[in-house]
Amino acid sequence: MEEIMPDPTTPRVAVVTGANQGLGLALVQTLADRLGSDDVVYLTARSLARGEAAARKLGDRRATIHVAQLDVTDKASIECFARLLKKRHGGVDLVASNAAARISKSFPQAEQVRNFVATNNHGSRALYRALSPLLRSNARYVFVASSFGRLKYLPKHLLTAFNTETLTLDELEETLEGYVAATEAGTASAIGWPEWINIPSKVGQVATARIAARDIARARPDDGILINAACPGLIDTDASRPWFDDMSQAQSPLQAARPIVDLLLVPPGATEPSGALVQFGVSLSWE
Ligand SMILES: NC(=O)c1ccc[n+]([C@@H]2O[C@H](COP(=O)([O-])OP(=O)(O)OC[C@H]3O[C@@H](n4cnc5c(N)ncnc54)[C@H](OP(=O)(O)O)[C@@H]3O)[C@@H](O)[C@H]2O)c1
Repeated sequence: MEEIMPDPTTPRVAVVTGANQGLGLALVQTLADRLGSDDVVYLTARSLARGEAAARKLGDRRATIHVAQLDVTDKASIECFARLLKKRHGGVDLVASNAAARISKSFPQAEQVRNFVATNNHGSRALYRALSPLLRSNARYVFVASSFGRLKYLPKHLLTAFNTETLTLDELEETLEGYVAATEAGTASAIGWPEWINIPSKVGQVATARIAARDIARARPDDGILINAACPGLIDTDASRPWFDDMSQAQSPLQAARPIVDLLLVPPGATEPSGALVQFGVSLSWE
């Protein structure tokens, strides 16, 4: 793995995926307000036009906001973005892997599961694979997941498939592909998978963070890189609104962004949290 040396004079580079609306846009705003005036925040969106429109809404902030096209399901788009980061900045410091497909109430989840897992799981893993060689010392990488991403939501006989002590990212991908195929074939419930496709997907996202944290700590033990998952809690966005009659207890995107940005800004030299699922500053149990 190519080593990227720390340089305290280098401006920090932050990336947010799925950032043209919802939590992602609020993460960009909060990062751009809290980082320094030499720092850069990439507002990435699968549609460049929607990304640019979102950036116009934010206006000028302390850090500079750049807009970039990034579709996490498109290998060429990921490679192009990783090349851009390398060429312009040589590395990246902070990544919020936030992009997510929604679940619609209007048609069966079995018809949605492939795109859902392709975006939320394979997409976030593909981006991690492309950006991990660019992570500078003391980088922070957060996979936005949910408190549903815990083993307690799966039956016991499926837990060995999520043993993050030994599992590789490729094996995790195979497990989730098997889950997708079973859901499409109508056999997932007989195997014991939960009815709601969000649960296996979120468990997969947290497992990704745990495996990535484990592997980076082994490969670059002195670099202080921290990789975690985050649960934002209920947020009032277009994704969640159709599912709840009463959103009065939901956070605004900006409220939800704050603790996730805290996790991204854990100071250099910290060794924790690592491989954790963090909600409002507290690590939740994996089991
Ligand atoms: N809202 C909640 O209550 C809640 C609760 C727990 C966890 N979360 C998590 O928080 C994150 C953000 O949620 P949200 O409510 O803000 O969702 P959202 O409003 O649906 O925003 C999702 C973003 O992801 C983008 N996206 C979708 N597919 C993409 C792709 N292939 N490549 C790149 N970007 C893509 C969307 O872009 P387009 O505009 O182009 O569709 C949109 O900008 C998600 O990971 C979600 O699972 C949310």
